[in-house]
Amino acid sequence: MKVDGKHFCSIWRDADGWSVGAIDQRRLPHEFVIARLTNVAEAAEAIRSMLVRGAPLIGATAAYGMALAMRDDSSDAAIDRAYETLIATRPTAINLKWALEEVRRVLRPLPPSARTAAAYARADDIAEEDVAINRGIAGNGLALIEMIAAKKPGGTVNVLTHCNAGWLATVDWGTATAPIYLAHDRGIHVHVWVDETRPRNQGASLTAWELGHHGVPHTVIPDNTGGHLMQHGKVDLVIVGTDRVAANGDVCNKIGTYLKALAAHDNGVPFYVALPSPTIDFSVADGVNQIPIEQRGAEEVTDMTGRTRDGRIETVRIVPEGSPVANYAFDVTPARLVTGLITERGVLKADRASLSAAFPERIAAAAE
Ligand code: MRU
Repeated sequence: MKVDGKHFCSIWRDADGWSVGAIDQRRLPHEFVIARLTNVAEAAEAIRSMLVRGAPLIGATAAYGMALAMRDDSSDAAIDRAYETLIATRPTAINLKWALEEVRRVLRPLPPSARTAAAYARADDIAEEDVAINRGIAGNGLALIEMIAAKKPGGTVNVLTHCNAGWLATVDWGTATAPIYLAHDRGIHVHVWVDETRPRNQGASLTAWELGHHGVPHTVIPDNTGGHLMQHGKVDLVIVGTDRVAANGDVCNKIGTYLKALAAHDNGVPFYVALPSPTIDFSVADGVNQIPIEQRGAEEVTDMTGRTRDGRIETVRIVPEGSPVANYAFDVTPARLVTGLITERGVLKADRASLSAAFPERIAAAAE
């Protein structure tokens, strides 16, 4: 997608052929800074500190992290060390484990001398496959937006989204945003309600930034606004991303997604989840009870960072000193509240039968 008219991906192999470039998402929307990752420790820290974030991008970064590790040491022990370092960075998005296992599977049978090139090749493929998958999601989700547009001749299709499941969270296109970008590019009038997404404000900081740069009309709303908008007919559909979809169709996504699903259900608003197939985890039978929920530092809740009117970036405290806080980063929306799963292989029902029929190879992978 575009930044100031120039096409960008969120991560890439640098011109030197080995280091990895990524947009530093901690600095957006105020500063556009490119980071350079040169070893596995830096790749791991980029994921942990959320320089990169979003399930598919976490996976792609981890894959490049394995390649960077192989450059320094391509022994069997180094493969395992790199895997352990990277898997420990964040617990919820299953794309991390998926990507690490993809690279490890390629590396293990190879002689050490062939491992670095093979790791880069698989990491490049993972990044390219992500773009292709998201383009597939765009086409399948577009049909849903077109159906609504057809019922509102000359009107605007209002989509509500939560967090950032945009191109910044993937390699390009995004998942939830992919159908939105395609609809916009095809001339359909789309408008996006962007949940600010406390505590880290990925909606206000990242989704609004990328939609703005691509010219997609949008409005940032405080997280608590969605229910009111839905009650008053101002939301035609909700599309969110996900960090892990369980075999039973339960969907884990950024904290607050579940509340949006409840509000959508109560108001008859379709609630769709866009996901690439690496986000499906057939090893988890029951998402609500089994998906690990990351808990993050208290400072994300107690503090807020922004730009002052005179241009400085500052952090201020908004919670009284001494008040305990809780910071659950994700929640799980039960499958019964999900209207459909927008995947690269079509729009599916959120249940085991539909997921297994569409992605049988993922069941085999989970059993390994
Ligand atoms: O904590 P984050 O910013 O990594 O969380 C991101 C999300 O919850 C996204 O909605 C999800 O990863 C899907 S990204 C296509």
